[in-house]
Amino acid sequence: MKSSDCTRVLVTGGAGFLGSHLCERLLDDGCDVLCVDNFYTGTKANVAHLLSNPRFELMRHDVTFPLYVEVDQIYNLACPASPVHYQFDPVQTTKTSVHGAINMLGLAKRVKAKILQASTSEVYGDPEVHPQPESYWGHVNPIGVRSCYDEGKRCAETLFFDYRRQHDLPIKVVRIFNTYGPRMHPNDGRVVSNFIMQALQGQDITIFGDGSQSRSFCYVDDLIEGIVRMMATPHEVTGPLNLGSTFEFTIKELAQSVVALTGTGSKLVFADLPPDDPTQRRPDLTLTREALGSWEATTTLEDGLAKTIAYFKQTNGL
Ligand SMILES: NC(=O)c1ccc[n+]([C@@H]2O[C@H](COP(=O)([O-])OP(=O)(O)OC[C@H]3O[C@@H](n4cnc5c(N)ncnc54)[C@H](O)[C@@H]3O)[C@@H](O)[C@H]2O)c1
Repeated sequence: MKSSDCTRVLVTGGAGFLGSHLCERLLDDGCDVLCVDNFYTGTKANVAHLLSNPRFELMRHDVTFPLYVEVDQIYNLACPASPVHYQFDPVQTTKTSVHGAINMLGLAKRVKAKILQASTSEVYGDPEVHPQPESYWGHVNPIGVRSCYDEGKRCAETLFFDYRRQHDLPIKVVRIFNTYGPRMHPNDGRVVSNFIMQALQGQDITIFGDGSQSRSFCYVDDLIEGIVRMMATPHEVTGPLNLGSTFEFTIKELAQSVVALTGTGSKLVFADLPPDDPTQRRPDLTLTREALGSWEATTTLEDGLAKTIAYFKQTNGL
């Protein structure tokens, strides 16, 4: 599916992992893309290959400050996404989610743009319901070390729906589950990048807990397709909609796949589970399938991991 109705698109957090793939996809679809980023976790290198495209523009800007630009659509992705990054400056993380949402919603209202929020499965916290449907309100610790991210994203969702109720703004909210692929930050502490880097460096692979906690891993191309389809839905479709893969693996199985695909002799070692780490996560995609037609995460873990491993090898000289 092409984002055919788009002309001028703003992507906040566009120099990050997901944002850079989204910019690429929107350019392929013929859009003019304004990528806004403060390079907190994203890099110019992630979008360097797009700079020569006359329809691409890169702007250094922090979304906690207002922005005045003329656009037709806004994808709001700006926010550090991995615990190691969002816990480094938790106050700034909350500001990015909350002030960033207020600023981008204000912009959308002024220029009558459609706006999509990259929310997260973290709004479900450590879920008591499995798999998680969008109707589940979550089980979130409001005062823990993950709260700056979880509660920031929950408040951003509230703002999106209040702008809808108060101003009939065309909003879209997607709750993204674990996604991986090329251009993930190599040292972001996320499980896929951790395991790949450890394996490529010939180190043991550290599993937090006993490795029986499950995750569903979505390859980046599938996720971007889902996000673009969501933006193209009619006005009445607001979400929140879950986006992710339903293929569930344990962390231990992931580690074993990484060892097999990198061909290294890394051993699996076990360490204590960090606080508030959710034990199980898998999206219920019933509503998503209804709203987005035949969308499904189709890339197998092996194919996605192979592409990600190739990227990490190349960019880290391993
Ligand atoms: N990758 C995932 O598995 C996942 C899962 C759930 C939700 N998400 C959401 O998707 C979005 C993108 O995540 P990602 O994995 O690409 O992370 P990322 O850290 O690679 O990208 C975030 C981008 O936002 C930028 N940024 C941070 N604070 C900013 C600010 N104040 N102003 C402007 N730019 C700022 C960073 O520099 C970076 O380029 C995030 O909002 C994240 O919460 C991602």
